[in-house]
Amino acid sequence: MSEAADLSKEAKFLGNLDQEIHPNLDITVVEDGVIIDWFQSPDHLQFKHSYTEPRLIRRLQPRQALVKACNNKQHSINRILDLTGGWGIDSLILAYHGRNVTMLEHNELVYHVASYSLNYARSIQHTRAAAECIEIIHINSLDFLLALKDSKIYDCIYLDPLFPDHKSSAKPAGEMQILQHLTQNQDIDQCFELALEKAGKRVVVKRPAKSRPISDLSADLVYREKTIRFDVYLTNRGNY
Ligand SMILES: C[S@@+](CC[C@H](N)C(=O)[O-])C[C@H]1O[C@@H](n2cnc3c(N)ncnc32)[C@H](O)[C@@H]1O
Repeated sequence: MSEAADLSKEAKFLGNLDQEIHPNLDITVVEDGVIIDWFQSPDHLQFKHSYTEPRLIRRLQPRQALVKACNNKQHSINRILDLTGGWGIDSLILAYHGRNVTMLEHNELVYHVASYSLNYARSIQHTRAAAECIEIIHINSLDFLLALKDSKIYDCIYLDPLFPDHKSSAKPAGEMQILQHLTQNQDIDQCFELALEKAGKRVVVKRPAKSRPISDLSADLVYREKTIRFDVYLTNRGNY
């Protein structure tokens, strides 16, 4: 990035990251995203976070379970609250398919990486429309839900907690391994309970294909892919 460039607050934060906070990570800010190099990981994991990466663009195809799970027969699901924003890949997919997404992330580094890439995506014609449908907020989702006065403002509330690390199962993709290294789930059970109270139409939870549901409550609908599934809990049965 040239010195003349107007450094965003995300770029400043990432540029000033204290080595003591993340001693085994190299963070490099480039024009369209952020390169994260976890050089002390056993497999020396590295990935580039950018909403303009061809690898990510290929994941925006329409007939995927996430898009179906966050939809209904009336096509009246518009506003989605993503309680576990992470790298923002699911939020981008949903926004690309016409939803307005409010994405929450409590981890400061993860938030700034996603926020930086989102700002760039807003400046590029190919990704502008989807990126402008995403609002990203640095907050603990439980605090956000507790403060949410206007109940039912979000048609769908989405959760994708970090999956438990099963020794028997295959390792997740590199970017998810880095996320597991950097951050953790917090208050997920309470978030789920509050989401059921506050979602206008449904709550959707991403789970590993064979794992138990997030609670004792049975899902009303389930959408499956090879290694994951989406459990859907309807909160307004008259309108699903
Ligand atoms: C599996 S990742 C989500 C990945 C995301 N769906 C994506 O497409 O990149 C879970 C994320 O939720 C965040 N998280 C967990 N508990 C949270 C909470 N209470 N509030 C906000 N973020 C939380 C973690 O920091 C992590 O980044």
